[in-house]
Amino acid sequence: MKPYVILNAGMTIDGKIVTAKNSSNMSSEESLIRVHKLRKNMDAIMVGIGTVLADNPRLNVRKVDANPEDNPIRIVVDSKCRTPTGAYITNNDARTIIAGANEFKHDFLTSDRYNVFKQKDVEFFFSGDTHVDLTVLMNYLANEGIKTLMLEGGSTLNFSMLKEALIDEINVSIAPKVVGGVNAKTLFDGEGFDTMDDAVNLDLMDSFFLGKDLILKYKVLK
Ligand SMILES: NC(=O)c1ccc[n+]([C@@H]2O[C@H](COP(=O)([O-])OP(=O)(O)OC[C@H]3O[C@@H](n4cnc5c(N)ncnc54)[C@H](OP(=O)(O)O)[C@@H]3O)[C@@H](O)[C@H]2O)c1
Repeated sequence: MKPYVILNAGMTIDGKIVTAKNSSNMSSEESLIRVHKLRKNMDAIMVGIGTVLADNPRLNVRKVDANPEDNPIRIVVDSKCRTPTGAYITNNDARTIIAGANEFKHDFLTSDRYNVFKQKDVEFFFSGDTHVDLTVLMNYLANEGIKTLMLEGGSTLNFSMLKEALIDEINVSIAPKVVGGVNAKTLFDGEGFDTMDDAVNLDLMDSFFLGKDLILKYKVLK
């Protein structure tokens, strides 16, 4: 059992989701409004710890009319539980679940940091040895009643989720920009596949412009 997972990201035409100096504001206002509408319709939103440390995102619904209960449950994939105690995603906008790995569980649960998170009602779920087992995590989230989940990066987590066949749909907003840079992260990084035969195939479901950005919606073929 797993939620229906939509990967959503903004990127440049060279596939970069951020520059090497961590600049990522490439999307048009119209495109950002679509992201917030999508968030409003999803049960949960998930990011990797790399994104939390780089951006300190809020992951709430802002650019459209919304009530506090419209904010999706926030999930951070964070094996070593490195999420800062003051990160925005630990505030009371919505429920927060930090997914850690078993090797680090004992030390973390006996740390002062854990008590700070507990006071903020942040929840924890542990799976995998040294890294989060994403399939086990998805099963846990489905059992928690999460039917739809928006994956908002970054590139390392995106690739792992794709490799584990946990992504159902990919939505990209392509800004008409080129930034280049070998150290600028792309939509999917991780270790990559060795051959084109191993590539994950997609089926284009919809395409349209929002402002200057081209929105492409793909179904992931299993
Ligand atoms: N343009 C966009 O739409 C967009 C959206 C989101 C992010 N971004 C950008 O993406 C960048 C962050 O990407 P990132 O690749 O550095 O980090 P990330 O994908 O957000 O997080 C990766 C981290 O997740 C943890 N993790 C735990 N279990 C994992 C598993 N099974 N598979 C994969 N990861 C696992 C690992 O750290 P541990 O080993 O410590 O657990 C890993 O290093 C930021 O610069 C951000 O601005 C852009």
